Amino acid sequence: MAFLASLSERAISRPSTSVILYYVLGFLLLVHAIRRVRGWYRLRHIPGPALAGWTSLWLTRRYLKGTFCQDVPALVDRYGPVVRVAPDKIVCTDITTMYRISGVRSDYKKSEWYTISRVSRDGDHILSLIDPELRKERKKYIMPAYTGRGVDDFEEGIDRALASWIDLIERKYISTPGKNAPMNFEEKAHFYSLDAVGEIAYSESFECVKQDKDTKGVLGINDATIPILMAVGNYVALWRILRMWPFYLLFPNDGDECGFGAIVGQAKKLVAKRLQPDAKPKRDMLQSFIAHGLRGEPLSQEVGIQFFAGSDSIASALYTTLLLLLTHPSVYTRLQTELDTANKTSPPATDGSPPPTIIHDSQARSLPYLQAVIREGLRLFPPLTAAPAFKEVPARGDDVCGFPLPGGTLVATANAILQGCREKGFWGEDGDCFRPERWLEADDSETYMQMLMQKKRDTVCSSLPSNNPGSQHNTIRDPRTLGAQLS
Ligand code: HEM
Repeated sequence: MAFLASLSERAISRPSTSVILYYVLGFLLLVHAIRRVRGWYRLRHIPGPALAGWTSLWLTRRYLKGTFCQDVPALVDRYGPVVRVAPDKIVCTDITTMYRISGVRSDYKKSEWYTISRVSRDGDHILSLIDPELRKERKKYIMPAYTGRGVDDFEEGIDRALASWIDLIERKYISTPGKNAPMNFEEKAHFYSLDAVGEIAYSESFECVKQDKDTKGVLGINDATIPILMAVGNYVALWRILRMWPFYLLFPNDGDECGFGAIVGQAKKLVAKRLQPDAKPKRDMLQSFIAHGLRGEPLSQEVGIQFFAGSDSIASALYTTLLLLLTHPSVYTRLQTELDTANKTSPPATDGSPPPTIIHDSQARSLPYLQAVIREGLRLFPPLTAAPAFKEVPARGDDVCGFPLPGGTLVATANAILQGCREKGFWGEDGDCFRPERWLEADDSETYMQMLMQKKRDTVCSSLPSNNPGSQHNTIRDPRTLGAQLS
């Protein structure tokens, strides 16, 4: 009897390992469930698909399928301009709000989502830097180059890249009777943009166009990794772990043979060459970064990011505008006529050489229809708007289109650009159509843009449907009390 009593006492005082495990698991599940409910509760007033309020899987699935961008208009039709797409994330397609959030004086900051744009193991560049103070500091070094001060070799470099493309077409892609030689324009636009950014960045080219191949293997790697990065961006905690040892060894590195690691590697070699005391200074972006005091890893990172940020944007602007031209023969013909006339009337070269195949930038800027076509192409397919570009609501909270948002909520800003660029309330009933003439309806494109901006100022939150639950809060609340109301 005494033996049994002592056994049961021991069982009570020392629970078995499996019981402890069940308790720990039960506790963790409880904490997880409480966090889920709290997460859902914070934004319960924002309309959106029910599942998206509870889990990021809803959004992740769309990124992996690559359809999120196309899904947004249907979501907006159903739920209004503010839609909850994950427990802590919303999409807002109101263009006025986007201007306010992205404006210079905005206290919204880049969210941690932007760190997925790190293109190599070490260091940050201006796109992945999210700390406002560090961004301010870095901008001091790089902004002169981005505003074009002291960087006037652009045109020569761009002309070299263009001449190389014309040469490639003449060598390989002219169809003749009996020989069909189609050219994949999208691929060549990417080759051209990588070469052109190389010229802008450091006056050298990767020779993708000349060799007619992706010499640094960037495009294949991009296609494979970008959807995954977009999906991982929804899980900041996981992303933080992936940036630690040993996982970070999977990141691109400057010793790589292909991908962005190879680009950063090449950038480092060029930087080292340019920093030699006897190096001949150039008038490109690298020289401007150096002249303004940028050195070491940040210098290589800023050179590397130009390829990540600059090449896809240029390529997509080129191939989407060409697609629009090919599918609108009347626009194509009018543009061709303007270019032919400009070619005939361009002043002869002073040294008697034949007129250049590539017109000067100054002449291109003076051709109104060409300028209107460029603006209209960028309007219908604004580059870099497939990624959500999440900005973080400041700690005080905010009111977006009548919906109060607690501090820390992530707002996707890029979808507003895409949606706003076609918004019928702003552009008119033909907002979805390719009609460059709209840019010529005022005296010139600049005047038209100013006219539109005035119209926009007059129509705040115009796209908010009257039956939207948010419309009852349509006045901006006192920002000092918003945080307290919502947290
Ligand atoms: C058609 C041409 C281009 C378009 C439409 C375009 C558009 C954009 C947009 C929308 C962003 C903002 C992304 C965000 O913050 O979420 C951006 C950022 C950026 N772009 Fe471009 N871009 C173009 C060309 C270029 C080129 C040629 C370069 C470099 C040579 C470049 C370098 C950058 C950099 C470094 C950033 C990050 C800025 C920051 O975080 O403050 N872009 N671009």
